[in-house]
Amino acid sequence: MSNRKDDHIEFALAQSVIDNDFDRLRFAPVTFPEIGFDDLDLSVNLFDTTFPLPFYINAMTGGSEKAYGVNQRLAQLAKTFSLPMATGSLSTILKDPSTLSSFQVIKQIYPEVFLISNLGGGHTLETMKKVNALVGARACQLHVNAVQEITMPEGDRDFKGWMQKLEVIQQGITIPFIVKEVGFGMSRQTILALKEKGVRYIDVAGKGGTNFSKIENHRNHKPLHVFDQWGFSTVESLLSSQGIEGVSILASGGVRYPLDVIKSLALGAKAVGMSGYFLRLVTEYSHEQAVEKLTDFIEELKAIMVALGAKTVQDLSDKKLIYDQHLLEFNKQR
Ligand code: FNR
Repeated sequence: MSNRKDDHIEFALAQSVIDNDFDRLRFAPVTFPEIGFDDLDLSVNLFDTTFPLPFYINAMTGGSEKAYGVNQRLAQLAKTFSLPMATGSLSTILKDPSTLSSFQVIKQIYPEVFLISNLGGGHTLETMKKVNALVGARACQLHVNAVQEITMPEGDRDFKGWMQKLEVIQQGITIPFIVKEVGFGMSRQTILALKEKGVRYIDVAGKGGTNFSKIENHRNHKPLHVFDQWGFSTVESLLSSQGIEGVSILASGGVRYPLDVIKSLALGAKAVGMSGYFLRLVTEYSHEQAVEKLTDFIEELKAIMVALGAKTVQDLSDKKLIYDQHLLEFNKQR
């Protein structure tokens, strides 16, 4: 198990940052922004809580010594910038309770953290409550990763009952409950089906960044490359969610730059999750360097907001985006 967690970290880091669908759309210029940097407010309200920045550290790891170190460094960064942070899948602690410390380290470093727990599809309400209590979660994610499991040599082979169990969790849980993909995105049908079950928070986790088909194929002596290009990108998933009321859409998957964050927000995301970006930040740089890089990232976010004349994240929703031919065609067919 711990080897699998370490493989995920190693192979995710080995993947290069790629061009993706965020490059297929651009903003119309705003010639008279009529605001200044002092007017900006980057905060978002999510889970009935106000966060100073519109992005969060998305689910990654826990369950090994290496994962302990990564979570420790992620928690330090989360603390410095008051970011919400999701854990990696907590199913590890059900199999090996001794790995709990690699998750609890997050709260030890950053006791006030808005911690989001993470478990996989097929788990029950009871298990979700149990892991939430163990790590002190204030919200919880259920990752629905059928394609990853299929590609994984030791993965699940039976996906019956996930939706029904998910509905039971939604009805019985008292903290915000997020349903999340792991990098293959979601269609409008999926989003509507989840809404129908009462789900209020959906992280579309689209294609374009960390690719779990490729990661699992590295580990698989019989690779299944059919899924390497599978799914909807984050932009396509966000386009698929347009006009659906009553659900908070979270964007993640392939968010590389501040402009990707802004584009996600303009496409209706309530907040934006990044995994690969933060993994690189904490493994390739010292804490001080990572703080400097993330500070620059936030400054660039602000620069884009000013150039667009958007004082707040809400103001981004009426900024004109121009799509390329591929996205136009997608929008017609979706
Ligand atoms: C992940 N991801 C992930 N997701 C999840 O719900 N539970 C998990 O345990 C993990 N584990 C994990 C490990 C590592 C090393 C990485 C990089 C990622 C998936 C992650 O949350 C996200 O959906 C994808 O990585 C796509 O986002 P990025 O990396 O392109 O920002």
